[in-house]
Amino acid sequence: MDAGVPSSPGKFKSDKSHHHHLRLLRWHHSSLPKFLFWTFCAAAVFFLFFLASPHFSSSSSASLHSSSSTERRSLRTSSSSSPAWGGTEWEKRVLSSARIRRRPFGISVLVTGAAGFVGTHAINSLKRRGDGVVGLDNFNDYYDSSLKRARQVLLSHSGVFLVEGDINDGPLLRKLFDLVSFTHVLHLAAQAGVRYAMKNPGSYVHSNVAGLVSIFEASRSANPQPAIVWASSSSVYGLNTRVPFSESHRTDNPASLYAATKKAGEEIAHVYNHIYGLSITGLRFFTVYGPWGRPDMAYFFFTKDILAGKPITIFQGPDSATVSRDFTYIDDIVQGCLASLDTAQKSTGSGGTKHGPAQLRVFNLGNTSPVPVVELVSILERHLKVKAKRKFVKMPRNGDVLFTHANITLAKKELGYHPKTNLQTGLKRFVKWYLEYYTPSNGSYLAKKGRGGSSSSNSS
Ligand SMILES: NC(=O)c1ccc[n+]([C@@H]2O[C@H](COP(=O)([O-])OP(=O)(O)OC[C@H]3O[C@@H](n4cnc5c(N)ncnc54)[C@H](O)[C@@H]3O)[C@@H](O)[C@H]2O)c1
Repeated sequence: MDAGVPSSPGKFKSDKSHHHHLRLLRWHHSSLPKFLFWTFCAAAVFFLFFLASPHFSSSSSASLHSSSSTERRSLRTSSSSSPAWGGTEWEKRVLSSARIRRRPFGISVLVTGAAGFVGTHAINSLKRRGDGVVGLDNFNDYYDSSLKRARQVLLSHSGVFLVEGDINDGPLLRKLFDLVSFTHVLHLAAQAGVRYAMKNPGSYVHSNVAGLVSIFEASRSANPQPAIVWASSSSVYGLNTRVPFSESHRTDNPASLYAATKKAGEEIAHVYNHIYGLSITGLRFFTVYGPWGRPDMAYFFFTKDILAGKPITIFQGPDSATVSRDFTYIDDIVQGCLASLDTAQKSTGSGGTKHGPAQLRVFNLGNTSPVPVVELVSILERHLKVKAKRKFVKMPRNGDVLFTHANITLAKKELGYHPKTNLQTGLKRFVKWYLEYYTPSNGSYLAKKGRGGSSSSNSS
């Protein structure tokens, strides 16, 4: 023991002041370096712990993304500054939203991307038939987030609670799985859109790769493990020229980063199925459209521009061939999602260990009748009763492909999937919704700034 340090508190108290002064001097000389050393060690340990924490990794990856030489704008989210979850009230709302009312066959589903276009419609259908649903969305500003808020209000009317948070937030996912024994996850959250990847590549890696892994991680650790149905995309067919696109075709020629992240997702799904026994179904959606749709998609911003009297740009391929898409109406997509949930077998793992082979599926969900974009414009003109100002432009190399066309034989056979709505009917319903939603009393859309562009084929 150091001679200058008292052996007991009592002795220390009775020491005279010059002794005290001496001790302090000695302490300064002998203990200050030690003190500094241990303070430094503590700070280093704290820093390492902080680095390893999941909160840090998600936020640091966001900041790494924004510091690269390519422009990587961070998407603003309402929940990025402070965690908007937790507490007794919050837990009550989660539990009430998850309650199954359809017995004995009802399911309990965690739907990610819940404030998105497909998420909102899928949740509505699940809720209507009596299933328990909890939504999760980070309400990012990739497109007009007031539309996401309006969808949230719509869902709250049917008793659905949307948790605000990021799919990369591991503690939040664990909390949700602790509270609710979800039988299924319908994973729709993603960074969508093909062209935006040239502006903000990091957002695709964050949501479509890291976010997917985060969902799989939470699911494989959950007890019981849920079955997972998730949205891949027709864009995985990339530069494939064999038509119609079939699940057995090659998907190793992606034309965009978006497509590459969805393709990566399909490979990652294989891993989690193989190692942990997760039951996983990937759905390749083909250009989904309809009411409450996405403002960054051609049918949506064409409508806006036609009404505003602005010219619309239509892409053309070689030999003036126009771009074609297998436009699929939202209700048909939702039917495919619900059929996938209903036919999904249980996952076979528990406690992170696989106990037998588990189901792994991929399906095309399309309309199987591609329509040229020029035809889409003519239909919109008829429904809007306004003539469009067409501008034809050679298709730039921005990630779009010339055409998409789904072979849906497998989905018909396994899911009983039968798309019912043609483009004429589907667009009529979209235009009706659009005009109602953006009437001046609702706050005119034309006065609002939506995301989007002015050209033709952004399709996923
Ligand atoms: N709509 C289409 O034509 C189409 C075609 C092919 C594939 N898909 C896929 O279908 C799914 C749904 O598409 P959509 O059209 O509804 O898109 P959407 O953008 O309307 O919905 C996606 C939702 O996910 C949320 N989100 C994104 N990243 C998140 C994150 N990290 N954490 C939490 N929430 C996050 C967004 O806020 C958004 O509300 C997506 O996976 C998309 O890639 C859509």
